[in-house]
Amino acid sequence: MLRILTILVTLILQRVLSEEVINTQSDYYQMATLINLSIGSPPAPLQLQVQFGTKSQNTFGQFIIDQSFVENSYQYAEMVKNYEFKNIYNIKKSSTALSKEPFQIEDPLYHDQISGNYVSDIISYNNIQSKYQFACVTNGDMQFFYYSGVIIFDRLGQNIFDQMYKSQSIKTSDYILTGEKKTVKIYDFSYTWNQINIIFDLDQSSDYYKYPSNPMISNSDHFEIMSYGIYMDNEDVTDKLKYKKVSLDQITNYNVIEDMISIPTDLLQLIQNKYNIPEELSFRGCAKCQCQDVVNLPEITIITEQYKFSINRSQYTQGNEYDCNIYLRGQDRFILSSAILFHTNNKIMYQKSSNSIKIINGQLINHLNINYIIATFSTFSTLIMVSLVYIILNQSFNFKLSKSEEQNQKKILNQILQMKKFA
Ligand SMILES: *[C@@H]1O[C@H](CO)[C@@H](O)[C@H](O)[C@H]1NC(C)=O
Ligand SMILES: *[C@@H]1O[C@H](CO)[C@@H](O)[C@H](O)[C@H]1NC(C)=O
Repeated sequence: MLRILTILVTLILQRVLSEEVINTQSDYYQMATLINLSIGSPPAPLQLQVQFGTKSQNTFGQFIIDQSFVENSYQYAEMVKNYEFKNIYNIKKSSTALSKEPFQIEDPLYHDQISGNYVSDIISYNNIQSKYQFACVTNGDMQFFYYSGVIIFDRLGQNIFDQMYKSQSIKTSDYILTGEKKTVKIYDFSYTWNQINIIFDLDQSSDYYKYPSNPMISNSDHFEIMSYGIYMDNEDVTDKLKYKKVSLDQITNYNVIEDMISIPTDLLQLIQNKYNIPEELSFRGCAKCQCQDVVNLPEITIITEQYKFSINRSQYTQGNEYDCNIYLRGQDRFILSSAILFHTNNKIMYQKSSNSIKIINGQLINHLNINYIIATFSTFSTLIMVSLVYIILNQSFNFKLSKSEEQNQKKILNQILQMKKFA
C-alpha cells in the first residue's frame, strides 16, 4: 500500500515538476517588463526586457548587451549607474561563449545603431540548459535603457523556447501565458501591475492538450485566428463588420503590459451609436457614477472555429465617483490577449509549429459529433454527404463565411472528407 502511494506521489510530482514557469516582473519605474535568465559558464544572472507582440520602441530585435558595450558607451554606462544595475553579460568571462559572424543593425527612427557579433552560449533556467544564439552588442549608440538585453515573443522570430527545443533541452516549443494582477507596496504607496507567467517545457500528455487547437490565419505575422460570428448581446452583427480577425498578440504595448481591449473600429462605431457613447469614450460627471447605471452596455461575443469569447461590460468599463470610462480601442482587429489573461481564468497556448492556438479553460463551441453523422450517412455518396454536413455545419454553427474565407471553408470540407476516409 505504502509503495503504491509512494509511486503515485512520485508520479504526481514528476507530472507537476515536468513543466517550468518564468514570471515576468515590472521594473521599479513601470516602464519595462523583465524576466530573469542566466547566460554563460559560470551562469551570469541577467534581467532581460521581454516583449510579447511586435510593437515596441526597440527596432533592434533580440539582443544581449556585453560588458564591453557599457565600457564603450558613456551614455549606457550612465544609465547602468543610475539604475544601479549589475547584471551585464561578459563574453570574456564565459568559458562556453563562441563568437560567430559580425552584425550591424540600424534604427532609422532614432538614428541609433548597434553592432557586435552573433554569439552562441549556454542559457540556463532552473535545471534547463541549452544552447542559445544571440546578437551580442559590443558597440553602438542607443538612447534607451534595455537592462541586460531584449527577448521577444512573436509569431515569426525564434524565441528562447524555439532555440531550447531545437537543441532538445525542452519537450516542445509550445508555451502558455497566464495573467495575474499583483499589488506591490512601496513605502506607503501601493500600486497594481499586470504580471505574465510563462509556462513552458510542457508535457504533451497534460490536460492542456485536451483543448482543441484553433488554426491560426496563415500568412500573418501575428498570432491570429478568424471569427465566424460576432454578436452584440444577442444581435448578430457579423455581416455588418469588415474586420473579423482575432489577435492573441500584443500583450506588451511598447514595453508595458496593459489591459486595454481592442475591437474592430466598425464594431466600436456600432456600439457608440447604439448606446450613445460620447466620442471620448467616457461618461463624465454622472453623480456617484457606476458604469452599469449609466447604460446597459452590451456583451460582445465572438465565435471562432473552436472557441467562444465573451467580453462583458465589467471587463471594459471602470467607474469611479465621477466618471465611467470605457476601455475599448478601435483597431483593424480584435486584440483579446490581455482581456483573456487579466479578466478571465483562461490561459493561452501558443503553438507555432502547428500554427494554432489553444485557450485553456476556454468556452468550447459545441461541435456536433461529426463522426456520428458520418457513420449514419456512410452509405451516401461522398458528394451528397459532404453537402449535407456542410448544410448542417452552416446552420448550426452560424458560420458566416465571406468570400475571403472561402479558403477556410475548403479546408473544413477537406477535413470532413479526410474523416470520411477513416470512418
Ligand atoms: C530577478 O533578479 C533581480 C535582481 O537580480 C531580483 O531582484 C528579482 O527578485 C528577480 N526576480 C525574480 C522573479 O526572481
Ligand atoms: C462578466 O464576466 C466576468 C468574468 O468572466 C464575470 O465575473 C462577471 O460576473 C460578468 N459580469 C456580467 C455583468 O455578466
